[in-house]
Amino acid sequence: MATIREPLVRIPASLVSVADYERLAPEFIEPATLAYIAGGSGNEQSLRANIEDVARLRIRNRLLVDSAHGHTRLSLLAHSLAHPVLLAPIGHQGLVHRDGEVAVAQGAAATDTALVTSTQATRRLEDIAAATDGPKWFQLYFQPRKEHTLALVRRAEAAGYTALVVTLDTPVQPLSRRAQRAGFRIPSDCLPASLAEFSEQTRPPSALAGVFDGLMAAAPGWQDLDWLMGQTRLPVIVKGVLDVEDAAKCQRRGVSGLVLSNHGGRALDGVPSAISVLPEIRARLGKTYPLLIDGGIRSGYDVFKALACGANAVLVGRPQIYALAVAGALGVAHMLKLLRDELEVCMALSGTPTLADIGALSLAPDLQLTNLGYH
Ligand code: FNR
Repeated sequence: MATIREPLVRIPASLVSVADYERLAPEFIEPATLAYIAGGSGNEQSLRANIEDVARLRIRNRLLVDSAHGHTRLSLLAHSLAHPVLLAPIGHQGLVHRDGEVAVAQGAAATDTALVTSTQATRRLEDIAAATDGPKWFQLYFQPRKEHTLALVRRAEAAGYTALVVTLDTPVQPLSRRAQRAGFRIPSDCLPASLAEFSEQTRPPSALAGVFDGLMAAAPGWQDLDWLMGQTRLPVIVKGVLDVEDAAKCQRRGVSGLVLSNHGGRALDGVPSAISVLPEIRARLGKTYPLLIDGGIRSGYDVFKALACGANAVLVGRPQIYALAVAGALGVAHMLKLLRDELEVCMALSGTPTLADIGALSLAPDLQLTNLGYH
């Protein structure tokens, strides 16, 4: 078996895109772990849709637009962000790097990138927060016991997280077929560190307990979301929304923003990509409601397309873990810089010097291309 390489300490000239990190990742990640990270649920239809739906969109080029004072800044939930790319919550990052989420936070700090820390992180939420003075949000999974959910919220508030991102699309999450075939299991030294103080019995039941009497019996409902919003002053963002009625319901109940997401194709297989449902949800929720999307964002051009479809910002999932494995904090920072640089080039060439200039008219109508079968 090929040996797994140590993370690089310098970025080689050959690494110039997110795709390069993905291509190199198998040299730095154990095969079973890579299967776990890369895989999606079921037949991986939603996983493929994420990439294909972004790729199908076409950008309009506009000439002779004065872009001298262009920039990528935005204001989101009272934050001023340097650019619209956030790091998605990814659990168990100790699988690919000894410093795991702390290294990712250092990469975020170096590039003015907002970070979303997972409940399932292998490092404690406090240690991750301490590694960046940039904007950071905490991704919350409801725990079977309310007092444990609340304990996480209080710790996140105390550690300086400024929003809660509640993920609701995976009360049940089977391992992908790829990960099952590879015999993947989370090793005991990569368990969620922030949950360590809760005893075995009070953690979510295992998938072996059965779906409806096991995991779904402990799954949250709308009343739990209302309860959570009553417990904290932090803005609550819901992650995992794809349905326009769910989106409207969240907005009516006082949720501060949404992450439209199919969990990187790891939740319900067969659902649409976030980018394909975004225009309808934007139209329903209005121009100013904070909407983020993730899934299949692999370049600055993809970021641009997501913004043109109505997103305020995007999150990147797998690219951060590939970059972490290949070159640690340095890799994460470099990967984010590549995305931002590409976004800036794309804005300059499309005649949209600020994010506010990007809109539906920034995309070419792709009807003709679709009819010709150019997918
Ligand atoms: C995830 N994702 C995820 N989401 C979440 O809310 N909490 C979590 O702990 C995790 N953990 C996790 C682990 C791994 C290995 C992956 C690949 C994904 C989903 C993640 O936040 C995001 O929605 C997707 O990764 C976005 O899709 P891309 O960018 O990977 O295509």
